[in-house]
Amino acid sequence: MPGGITTEVRTYQMYINGEWVASKTAKTFPVYDPSTEEVIAQVPDAGADDVNRAVAAAKAAFEEGPWATTTAQERGRVLFRLAEKIRANLPALAELECRNTGKPIVEAEFDIADAATCFEYYGGLATKVVGYVNPVPDNAMSLSLKEPVGVAGQIIPWNYPLLMAAWKLAPAIAAGCTCVLKPAEQTPLTALELAKYFTDCALPPGVVNVITGFGESCGAPLVQHPDVNKIAFTGSAAVGKIIVKQAADTVKRVTLELGGKSPNIVFADADFEAAIDGALFGVFINQGEVCSAGSRILVQKSIYKNFVEAMTEKAKKIKLGPPLERETKMGPLVSKEQYDRVNSYIEIGKKEAKLASGGGRPEKIAKGYYVQPTIFCDVTNSARIAREEIFGPVAAVIPFEDEKDALKIANDSPYGLAAAVWTRDIFKALRAVKALRAGIVWVNHMQPTYVEAPWGGYKQSGFGRELGPWGIEEYLETKQVYINLNEAPIGWY
Ligand code: NAI
Ligand code: MG
Repeated sequence: MPGGITTEVRTYQMYINGEWVASKTAKTFPVYDPSTEEVIAQVPDAGADDVNRAVAAAKAAFEEGPWATTTAQERGRVLFRLAEKIRANLPALAELECRNTGKPIVEAEFDIADAATCFEYYGGLATKVVGYVNPVPDNAMSLSLKEPVGVAGQIIPWNYPLLMAAWKLAPAIAAGCTCVLKPAEQTPLTALELAKYFTDCALPPGVVNVITGFGESCGAPLVQHPDVNKIAFTGSAAVGKIIVKQAADTVKRVTLELGGKSPNIVFADADFEAAIDGALFGVFINQGEVCSAGSRILVQKSIYKNFVEAMTEKAKKIKLGPPLERETKMGPLVSKEQYDRVNSYIEIGKKEAKLASGGGRPEKIAKGYYVQPTIFCDVTNSARIAREEIFGPVAAVIPFEDEKDALKIANDSPYGLAAAVWTRDIFKALRAVKALRAGIVWVNHMQPTYVEAPWGGYKQSGFGRELGPWGIEEYLETKQVYINLNEAPIGWY
């Protein structure tokens, strides 16, 4: 197999200061294939001592290592090399991602290609970071310089493992920061594979460290570490709130991407078939384990009955199966924990609304954490399944009367990551774009995301923006420099 990834249970070490090491705890933990429920790897169970080691390496690399004087051009070239390495190993990385997350292989291939594109984008952006000359009213020159923020702690989730690592690492490297990356405990493998390329790509030791561990024992000490200058986090809102509190004592810069409960609004004048497809794709892609999942589907009353019927019919035809099969559209959920959590929400939904389709395990699949694409209709926006992020294949369909009603329901959520609107009326579309309180609004589509464009949330979906030039800003400080151009004393006394 390309890249040397085999089907045996592999024992990984983690990557600190350019070396492959075990945890100081000497413990490891298992990593699973959620389609077979079997262990596919063992990885180090990092604790606070390992965090200390990794942060010390990142700090030394930032302050004393060759990285401190590496030019923007060279940082850009490191990123281009990483992009090429990822592309060269795409089949093996996609297969590993597919086996570890349960996502369909076709989607895993997209993700890995996207990760390469992200490194490439920031490779180009590394040399486009510029400062200003500020027009101060004096015989002086005032400059604002952009400088790296320092050591970045980066904590990521399990739904897009390598892609989320790319979103975090690429802008940080471009900015000249150093990093300690903690992948999710469920899915650390592709980030560890990525670390194997670092030496070949001329990334100096200590610049990127990858530590594997759990949230409380490994993530929390990283967030609290006094030598970490910034935390970038993607994950649950519950943990995001803990992180903000834990980061307060050392006044860290924090950026958070915390998911949502995104509305997908279908007006009666929309292209009916396109909207059906968009509603299904919007909520069931990646088994619904998507921060921007269109999990609240708002449908205008005049088409509501037909829409629910058509959606339900199509949902029944979505092919669940082994993630490595190319025809598979939905694989298993990532873990037993997530499977139980999603099923418990389905039970809640059965009490709160009407089950239109799905609602449990697919009958023909004996093993693996599979959940049918599940649609609840006649949901009220105050129901728990309409307010809480489920992060699985569960859609809440909510009827609405008119435009005003739709926008009110759409914005009535603690979250504000994404929204979509389906209509052929340009005026209605643009009024919705303006009214919706979300970090991204799609018109007549849902989910496309590009590395060139900003990504992040309003309200409790978090703060800060990733991707594009916005993404690198989060890894930069601004320094003002004042240069007096008068050679005479100021004559103050
Ligand atoms: P989580 O938020 O606990 O995990 C995300 C990352 O945070 C992981 O790397 C984890 O190890 C780390 N973490 C956990 N506790 C931490 C702590 N106290 N300090 C520092 N780092 C910590 O998410 P989990 O438990 O895997 O999933 C639970 C729910 O969270 C899901 O059902 C879903 O609703 C939501 N979620 C949302 C995501 C998003 O992108 N919006 C991604 C993953 C989960
Ligand atoms: Mg958790």
